Amino acid sequence: MDVFEITGPTRLEGTIKVNGSKNASLPIMAATILAPGQSTIKNVPQLSDISVCSELLTALGCKVNRDNNGDISIDSTVVDNPVGDYEIVRKMRASICVLGPLLARCGKAMVSMPGGCAIGYRPVDIHLRGLRELGAQIRIDNGYIVAEAPKGLVGKEIFLGGPFGSTVLGTANLLMAATLAKGITVIESAACEPEVTDLANCLRKMGAKIKGTGSPRLVIKGVRQLKPVEYSVIPDRIEAGTFMAAAAITAGQLHIENGRLDDLMAVVDVLRNIGVTVDKNNNGCVVVRTEPVRTAQITTQPYPGFPTDLQAQFMALLSLAQGNSVVIEKVFPDRFMHVAELSRMAADLRKEGSTVIVSGVEKLKAAPVMASDLRASAALVLAALAAEGTTVISRVYHIDRGYEQIEQKLNPVGAKIVRTNA
Ligand code: EPZ
Repeated sequence: MDVFEITGPTRLEGTIKVNGSKNASLPIMAATILAPGQSTIKNVPQLSDISVCSELLTALGCKVNRDNNGDISIDSTVVDNPVGDYEIVRKMRASICVLGPLLARCGKAMVSMPGGCAIGYRPVDIHLRGLRELGAQIRIDNGYIVAEAPKGLVGKEIFLGGPFGSTVLGTANLLMAATLAKGITVIESAACEPEVTDLANCLRKMGAKIKGTGSPRLVIKGVRQLKPVEYSVIPDRIEAGTFMAAAAITAGQLHIENGRLDDLMAVVDVLRNIGVTVDKNNNGCVVVRTEPVRTAQITTQPYPGFPTDLQAQFMALLSLAQGNSVVIEKVFPDRFMHVAELSRMAADLRKEGSTVIVSGVEKLKAAPVMASDLRASAALVLAALAAEGTTVISRVYHIDRGYEQIEQKLNPVGAKIVRTNA
């Protein structure tokens, strides 16, 4: 298993490029099931989660290839095994987003229920509630969601809000299912994340009739069939946000190519308030910190609020602020595996329920730490860049799920990261 040895403190300076979005690629790859034939998805990052998604589509009957340009071609002419096997789904919860497309295309689907997750309790009850509203018969059997709609799905007005607001993949599942349903579906309290908008834009290019993209009210007029597509996914705003925090925590200066500020306004607002300069330029943005980090209060919320997927990285940043900051997690109330690990690096953190009081320290100190989930591990990398000494991060496979060869991106701009196989 790979580990990272990261020596700090370092100052990052230079240009770093953001890849295509993992969280847009996954539902868009699943959407190709809806249109028999060959689709080509471009700008898809090389990540282990994408490989798992390819493995899943292949198990369903699709032919999946990645060509030399990195484009993924998916031939969904044949989808003769609508089963999301536990052995695949347990590797990636997002596999759930084949449920809607399989139901719409095949009239039946059997997808393993996703299991436990390091970031907390993550049910899929809203997905199932929504699909039942479209007329699917759904039961849980032997750990599998067994869903049937032999006569096809029928459009309906559906409220998709949950205890923590909207659901991203729940919206994706219902949106995809509704494209081939009879009549009109209205999704109220739909998620508005840029990844959902990207999926809707891709579906429209396939011939779907969707209104209200980017808003919490989506109106979908079902069509008889969709056509294969060639589509390029949006840049990864969470990767961009992670690099912004990296520039800030190291008092550096980074030009972040493909870093779209419009997708990150809540994040940019926090950065500017804590004394970091963030400027848009023709192909991304420039992030510079020269002043001491000021304190902030961060509350994670569904888009356009502050993304929960940047909570850990910004907690690491605020651990160097001059004074007390507050971080409140409103999307995944238990998403705090990084707190104990950052504390091992001499951060001064006090957790109470879903709130962490971050008391700024003079400096962070290197220590052996353990990655627990994707974004928590990104926070440990950032902390290690600023910490004094050499930090050893184990279980790096968590990082590889969402960041393509992160050390090969950060080392050219001044980081000292060595990947070794423990
Ligand atoms: C997506 O997960 C992202 N994953 C997550 O990113 C991200 O953290 C999350 O959205 C929130 O932005 C992908 O896109 C692949 P939700 P998703 O359904 O769709 C509750 C990363 O780091 N809920 O929007 O699974 C749920 O428990 C990952 O890249 C229900 O109660 O998240 C949570 O508290 C981690 N019932 C809240 O809603 C449901 O049926 C939001 O979850 C569904 C969700």
